[in-house]
Amino acid sequence: MKENQDADGGVSRRTYIKLSGIVGTTGLVAGCSGGGDEGSTATDSGGENTDGGTETTSGGDGGGDGGNALEIVHWWTAGGEQDALDALLEGFQEEYPDASVNNNPAPGGAGSALDTVIKNRVLNQNPPSTFQIWPGKALTEYVEGDVLRDIGDSVWNEDMRGAYREGVQNLAQPGGSYVAVPINIHRLNNLFYNTAVLDEAGVDPSSISDPGALTDALETISSETDAVPMAHQTQSPWSSVQLWENIFLGYNGVDAYTSLVEGNVSDHEDAVRESLQTLKDYSEYYNGDAGSISWDQANGKVVNGDAAFIHQGDWAAGQYQSADGFEYDSDWSMVPFPGTEGMYSVVTDSFVFPKNNPSPETTRKFLEYCGTVDAQERFNPIKGSIPPRTDVPTDPFGPFLQSQIEEFKNSDSQPPTIAHGTAVTPEVHGNIDEVFASFNEQGNVDSAYSGLENAFSE
Ligand code: GAL
Repeated sequence: MKENQDADGGVSRRTYIKLSGIVGTTGLVAGCSGGGDEGSTATDSGGENTDGGTETTSGGDGGGDGGNALEIVHWWTAGGEQDALDALLEGFQEEYPDASVNNNPAPGGAGSALDTVIKNRVLNQNPPSTFQIWPGKALTEYVEGDVLRDIGDSVWNEDMRGAYREGVQNLAQPGGSYVAVPINIHRLNNLFYNTAVLDEAGVDPSSISDPGALTDALETISSETDAVPMAHQTQSPWSSVQLWENIFLGYNGVDAYTSLVEGNVSDHEDAVRESLQTLKDYSEYYNGDAGSISWDQANGKVVNGDAAFIHQGDWAAGQYQSADGFEYDSDWSMVPFPGTEGMYSVVTDSFVFPKNNPSPETTRKFLEYCGTVDAQERFNPIKGSIPPRTDVPTDPFGPFLQSQIEEFKNSDSQPPTIAHGTAVTPEVHGNIDEVFASFNEQGNVDSAYSGLENAFSE
């Protein structure tokens, strides 16, 4: 054990088995940074891999850990995401001037690189101070492997328990104890668009009633303009997984979706096949370079008027906000993904406290800080998300996110996401990603359907 590390003990056989199932294919190598394929490029800076990192030291004693910095591993290097994280870390260091921070990203949209990096480090007993993870089922292996601290007493104080929305609070305790601090609520079922391109095509987005009608609108854009009808990335499967889950929701509603994520695929065979076929129909209208770009590069095509629509979580709006001269309402806007009005398809991110922690006291302070109004007010308006606390002032959020806050409050349902790990275990999630990696290549509905049937049999 390293000096200043806390005494949580080594990695048990049970832990090893739980976590190594997932990294088994990529190898358990100390400090390995493999596994990811979709690097974000827009503002990729601040650390090259998880052994390096950028240190922002404000001097002092490292927050009571004998000089150990808070090493934070995350994937927020794209769009406005890096600015949001910087704002959070700045707030933390204002609150704790003695704390130093080692900002060490593992770039790759939707955590496409981070997972392997973290599992290797946990198994090598060299975890960072904290790392980004979706709360809910994505935490399962870590909880079952017993590698996370129970932070119910040390971090989840009365103030947080009283202020957090109940649903998000539940996601932070998947095994019955608090192990994570959620920091945001993103919406997934957004269809963003460039208003000038839609005007030129004569397409009214609010009239698109279901996912099939969106195919017709894409065809109109294709024939009436030079723009790409739907910006998309297929370099990594997650953007197609999230689009497919929203297509399924749009056609079939929340009850069928809930049954599907519980693994009842064959009960919905026709509906699953229909949603796959619609996804295939959309793919005729993607940008030609979809296979070689990241989500923020695809989104950049909406910003510069080269594309009409993009389906993305509202982290895409964080990128619009950081773009010069691209204004909400006049230049871009969104409608709920066709057929999903009244639903707020939820994606959230959280930070956790790994055992064998290199900076226990600074980690505790950071997690407690993430649970404050100050942290959530700094982070979320830039990130394009709304706060999980109910008492954060809405003024700094601007008109788009204020409208998302209202939509969240008025929503009939908040279905959890498959693509962003809340609704299914990492194993099922990995299987589904594989199905869509092949579907992106081959577009074969039959084999994707049987792949999905098998994906849930753990
Ligand atoms: C999600 C994450 C978001 C955003 C997005 C794109 O999984 O929850 O915060 O980073 O990926 O990378």
